[in-house]
Amino acid sequence: MSHLTPDAPSAVQPTLCVVLNAEGSDRANAASVCARELGAPLCDSDALPGDFDVALVVTATRLELRVFRGEKTLIGGRGVACNLSAIDTTTGPGRSLGQPLIKAVGIKRRNPYRPKVLDVTAGLGEDAWVLASVGCEVSACERNPVTYALLADGLRRASESAPDIAARIDITRSDSVSVLKQVAMSAPAHRPAVVYLDPMFPLGRKTAERKAMRVLRMICGDDPDADQLLQAALLAATNRVVVKRPLRGAPLPGPAPSVCHKGKSLRFDVYPVG
Ligand SMILES: C[S@@+](CC[C@H](N)C(=O)[O-])C[C@H]1O[C@@H](n2cnc3c(N)ncnc32)[C@H](O)[C@@H]1O
Repeated sequence: MSHLTPDAPSAVQPTLCVVLNAEGSDRANAASVCARELGAPLCDSDALPGDFDVALVVTATRLELRVFRGEKTLIGGRGVACNLSAIDTTTGPGRSLGQPLIKAVGIKRRNPYRPKVLDVTAGLGEDAWVLASVGCEVSACERNPVTYALLADGLRRASESAPDIAARIDITRSDSVSVLKQVAMSAPAHRPAVVYLDPMFPLGRKTAERKAMRVLRMICGDDPDADQLLQAALLAATNRVVVKRPLRGAPLPGPAPSVCHKGKSLRFDVYPVG
């Protein structure tokens, strides 16, 4: 039986299998590679994986995560996948440089400056995609192996419909604290202008999370070590660190942010460096 969170400090350890739910030798091959990489058993789609909490399902077109046991509201329904091409980057609001994330990384209207960003909490890559869509080069790190598999699959599919945006994103599976420590030792020219953090929000009475984020939380845990990421990020960025938080949530423990860019339910705390 495979447990999902060997490298994240979390009490949650759901069990996982990989399920092949498609015809064709390329999908069968994708499923066995996935199972081998994750150290998880490969189950037949006819056999209900009732012994497992979650299944990473290899369909004809994508990888998706389905929940079989645990919180009732997460069981059944559509699987959770990385769906970057569904993100609005073309209509007015989606393309606007006035979005708080874009302003927080230091992009201004009528100014061509586009910082290099190191996204140390890649998740399903949505924020990395928004940043790449306005022209930033983004390196994104994700430590959870299942989330990383979903991200890699989503980026591969998105590169077919939006190759120019996808080409600005490179992804790594690693723990970002170690990555940041390495980066901090390099010459400034090789360090990112911006380090971006979006650790799991603290769970509160008013935390209304989308299903995808709740499933991600189930497999990744609550990121209780996010303050270590902030400390390491402050030594690695050359211009600023940006942290996504709930609109009324406390900032991460550590120095106080200098500026906050607020959206309807979120805010981006900015920590200038240098
Ligand atoms: C809230 S999600 C990020 C969502 C992401 N911003 C998006 O747009 O899809 C947080 C992610 O950060 C990852 N994470 C947290 N701490 C990490 C670390 N030290 N190294 C690498 N990944 C980390 C978690 O595994 C989880 O997938």
